[in-house]
Amino acid sequence: MAGTIKTVGIVGAGQMGSGIAHVCALAGYDVLIHDQSAEQIEKALATVNGNMARSVSHGKLEEAERVKGMSRIRPALRMEDLSGVDLAIEAATEDETVKRKIFAQLCPNLNPEAILATNTSSISITRLAATTDRPERFIGIHFMNPVPVMHLVELIRGIATENVTFESAREFVASLDKTITVSEDFPAFIVNRILLPMINEAIYVLYEGVGSVDAIDTAMKLGANHPMGPLQLADFIGLDTCLSIMQVLYDGLADSKYRPCPLLVKYVEAGWLGRKAGRGFYDYR
Ligand code: CAA
Repeated sequence: MAGTIKTVGIVGAGQMGSGIAHVCALAGYDVLIHDQSAEQIEKALATVNGNMARSVSHGKLEEAERVKGMSRIRPALRMEDLSGVDLAIEAATEDETVKRKIFAQLCPNLNPEAILATNTSSISITRLAATTDRPERFIGIHFMNPVPVMHLVELIRGIATENVTFESAREFVASLDKTITVSEDFPAFIVNRILLPMINEAIYVLYEGVGSVDAIDTAMKLGANHPMGPLQLADFIGLDTCLSIMQVLYDGLADSKYRPCPLLVKYVEAGWLGRKAGRGFYDYR
């Protein structure tokens, strides 16, 4: 555990929120996880338990650590339940309106000294911080998916983020045994500024008929040694998230090279959002 942070609150119990809960609990933090419905929170707890159980069966985690880890994660059915946390991490949908609404509800319930972090993968930290009551104690802590497996976390200061906040966040992330890169507050930071245009380009390659889904993914897996092909990765991230990030890049950097591929837009409009929806570039049904 790191310094003054003992209890972590997570808002958003989806893929990212559950992964963050997983690594925090195994690192010894008490974790409270909140979402709009008790069902979503239960689903997240079951996911974490399933992932920890798999680690046990693969000999990467002791059964006693799984039990201890799971006992540290508690559901927070109301925002008020987060009043005692030292660090709150927002891990909701990549939608600025949704995030602002969460901060408006969350901030009055938080201890004034608590640090507020966002797991946004693209949106301006400075702009989000300005909507809260604590821009100096606000920071971007960007985890990668799947959180328990990926080694990197990006840290992003907003213009008002105080050094003491940055240092606490740095200690916290280091205590999770993750490697940190520091990024300036520019659209999509480092990882997604590079990764998402590559994925968008792969979708253009499909759209223009240069290659099939299988050809594109095989080409990048075997030709560039990527662990997943770009279309498989897009499905894994969620096509709605991919589109939101491309939109932030396109709006924020005003360059046509970031134009979201029309095929990506069409898939999102169809509700073909990738793995979580059962259908994207691949069929998971
Ligand atoms: N939680 C916990 N563990 C998981 C997991 C999860 N969600 N998913 C996979 N794992 C574990 C598996 O249990 C397995 O563990 P063992 O070594 O003990 O068997 C290990 O990871 C490897 O998994 P698999 O054998 O099932 O499959 P794989 O070898 O193909 O690896 C992968 C899966 C790790 C996801 C790999 O395909 C990969 O690295 N893909 C690329 C992921 C990537 O690029 N992520 C970044 C996305 S971008 C992002 O996150 C930024 C953003 O903001 C959008």
